[in-house]
Amino acid sequence: MTSRAENDFGPDGEVFDVERIRALFPILAQRPGGQPLVYLDNAATTQKPLPVLNTLSRYYANENANIHRGVYGLSQRATDAYEGARAKMARFLNAAEPAEVVFTRNATEGINLVAQTFGRQRVTADDEVVISAMEHHSNIVPWQLLCEEKGAQLRVVPISDSGELMLDELASMLGPRTKLVSIVHMSNSLGTINPVRRVVELAHAQGVPVLLDGSQAAYHMPVDVQALECDFYVVTGHKLYGPTGIGALYGRRSWLEAMPPYQGGGDMISSVTFERTTYNEVPHKFEAGTPHIAGVVGLGAAVDFIESVGFSAIVEHERQLLAYATTALEAVPGLRLIGTAPEKASILSFVLDGVHAHDVGTVVDTQGVAIRTGHHCTQPVMERFSVPATARASLAMYNTTTEIDQLVTALATVREVFG
Ligand code: ALA
Repeated sequence: MTSRAENDFGPDGEVFDVERIRALFPILAQRPGGQPLVYLDNAATTQKPLPVLNTLSRYYANENANIHRGVYGLSQRATDAYEGARAKMARFLNAAEPAEVVFTRNATEGINLVAQTFGRQRVTADDEVVISAMEHHSNIVPWQLLCEEKGAQLRVVPISDSGELMLDELASMLGPRTKLVSIVHMSNSLGTINPVRRVVELAHAQGVPVLLDGSQAAYHMPVDVQALECDFYVVTGHKLYGPTGIGALYGRRSWLEAMPPYQGGGDMISSVTFERTTYNEVPHKFEAGTPHIAGVVGLGAAVDFIESVGFSAIVEHERQLLAYATTALEAVPGLRLIGTAPEKASILSFVLDGVHAHDVGTVVDTQGVAIRTGHHCTQPVMERFSVPATARASLAMYNTTTEIDQLVTALATVREVFG
């Protein structure tokens, strides 16, 4: 069903050829049970292209050494590769300088880092932290831990029946006690793209800093932290077509300078005596111990890869695919989409009348179709929509309309099995 016409776009006038993209992802050639793998669980993790796989292998084969420590050439090359990837991530997010990028294990660790440093330093009893009702658990629990410790309040901005953030409610919650707003850029269980520039405007008008969780947004759309004017932005590498176990926190230099260290250890210090330790400059102050050097280098290759395809092509391909998939799924008898905000991307959460989401996922898997089922680490979203779980198809740059048709065919099998 993928027509040539639908892919006649791309960066610099080139044709975006989805088959050429797919050929770069070896795992997509798998045939589980003799059928083509239809990988539609990209919100959980994306697959890895050859440029990333080859970079990881070349790094370990040719450049592996510890960084920031050796005077010998190999260590210098590893350091250059690591710091070069920091510069790539700064460019990718349009940070003002590489020093505003801190490498973390994932987005979760980025949020915990801010909660445990910025949060512990600034939040006191009766202060408030504002989040939304569509947050991933990783943007709920770190703030609950902080609020419990400090005797502070967690305020939750409600969402509408279509899954949109209720901005008026957000505005009414902001006040002198608000110490931080922490909101997801794009919801992992609804697909909603939040009006984050407006969120930042509202919060900054009250002098409140803003953290944005970009775990989902960053692989679907260009992110410009300077244009957003956010104070913190977190991403995770494994959703950016990069390795697992590596992520990044963007923080404005002025905040990073003012924040205490997160963890203590090697490399984050300037000098150590038993009486007193002084800390390294940012961002190294936040990167204790030997980091995931290969992961960082692989992440650099991943953002290079995304930029080589180009967001203009990615956004347009995924927009067409989402429209096609929405129409196709809406035509499935007994299927209800959860998350129908006008501004959404690449995620189709749904329930099927009379069939538990886990059964949907199990049956479509027998047809080679991989989707996620459950609460997607957003239990309050399930509660908001009064469902125990959803099935979720989530799209990436390499998916095709043919794969959407295969999902629909597999859902017909679910009906045959469960009636
Ligand atoms: N947060 C990831 C998801 O939505 C793991 O599946």
